[in-house]
Amino acid sequence: MSTPADPSSLPPLAYGVASASYQIEGAVAEDGRGVSIWDTFSAEPGRVRGGDDGTLACDSYHRLDDDVALVRGLGVDAYRFSIAWPRVVPEGRGRVEPRGLDYYERLVDALLEADLEPVATLYHWDLPQPLEDAGGWPVRATAEAFADYAAVVHDRLGDRVTSWATHNEPWCAAYLGYAAGVHAPGRREGEAGHRAAHHLLLGHALVRQALPDAHLGIVLNLAPVWAESRDAADIADGVDAIRNRVWLDPIVDGAYDDGLLRVAPVLADPELVRPGDLESMRGSIDWLGINYYTPIRPAVPDGRGEPHPEQGAYPGAPELDLVVREPRTDIGWEIEPRGLEELLVDTHLRTGVPLVITENGAAMADADVVDGVVDDRDRIDYLDGHLAAVERARAAGADVRGYFAWTLMDNFEWAEGYAKTFGLVHVDRSSQMLTRTPKASYTWFADRVTPERGRG
Ligand code: NOJ
Repeated sequence: MSTPADPSSLPPLAYGVASASYQIEGAVAEDGRGVSIWDTFSAEPGRVRGGDDGTLACDSYHRLDDDVALVRGLGVDAYRFSIAWPRVVPEGRGRVEPRGLDYYERLVDALLEADLEPVATLYHWDLPQPLEDAGGWPVRATAEAFADYAAVVHDRLGDRVTSWATHNEPWCAAYLGYAAGVHAPGRREGEAGHRAAHHLLLGHALVRQALPDAHLGIVLNLAPVWAESRDAADIADGVDAIRNRVWLDPIVDGAYDDGLLRVAPVLADPELVRPGDLESMRGSIDWLGINYYTPIRPAVPDGRGEPHPEQGAYPGAPELDLVVREPRTDIGWEIEPRGLEELLVDTHLRTGVPLVITENGAAMADADVVDGVVDDRDRIDYLDGHLAAVERARAAGADVRGYFAWTLMDNFEWAEGYAKTFGLVHVDRSSQMLTRTPKASYTWFADRVTPERGRG
């Protein structure tokens, strides 16, 4: 356990906005980009709402300068983006595509030119399809290929990008992708989820070994887990194990704990977890990214809650419901800023490393653009409430260094397609113009993060 930081010694909170390659870039067949699991998954009927896919997305690949200008207009300090593995190493391993690296180099240079710090995520779910065909994250070789790809990217950009994250939300990549089957590659095999989790962590640790001098972190969607009743305590512990401890324990202690091994016995299999694996994970981060949206309230199934996404998905899937208290966002997630405050304080004490909120934001059923304005007061309230929670956590000694709003502009929201919008900027999908219109929340955020700089 770490101790609380002295609030008066914390640097001012840095602000940014975040995005991810497959959600915004489009241009899926350009400049030698290989196929990713999300191209394949979204082409399968019934996988993504409305049959949407990322073929066009926000066309950011071609509008890099416009989009950097939008970030700059916010007056924030940093931009968090992700690098698409299949643009850089189209088959997942081996041949490097220089045009893919050129694109990210142009992006990084444009950010630096605009006085914005680039924060790069190496894996935000777009696994090269050939690696999935060879077994995907449930096989060890994928972790090794990931470290090779990371080294290639770092070779080109390491002199200009100072903050790196290996994975984004590996819980989703592992469990939504391989156990619940609601994200790519859409497999519903419980044990494969745990195998994927281990290899995602191993891939992270191999990157650490390959890049000992990089300022390296990992981005986790940790969540406070609040059992709805006493009889839900056991299932809440299982949820906490898979959502939080499976990632934090190896990174902090170099171990998987007994409670986790009860729900995931395969993580004790020496064929999977080889000697030295857990040790390589211990102390492998310089900073920790936290994506926070909502707390989790597990309940014994009794008709009051909604089924957990994994419920019934595969043999041995947890028997649990989730209770969602009002109010909620358009995607059904409870709005509860105290969850963020608690999470930051607890995670600081648990890890002792600097924390960055790498995502926080809300899907809201946005009003139409009227006279050039989208009046998204509900999103402003969400952000305002959560920023107040961050300040409370810092005052309580949580070493929180940064806050990134999710997300710059409305984009491809994975299995929800384009139906759920989290952007500070509206993107008009009624034509291929994809006109960008800053919402009221964009102006509000700009005022909130840089009041002293003034606007206009
Ligand atoms: C987490 C993911 O990292 C991001 O890609 C997604 O769009 C947001 N949460 C909202 O669901």
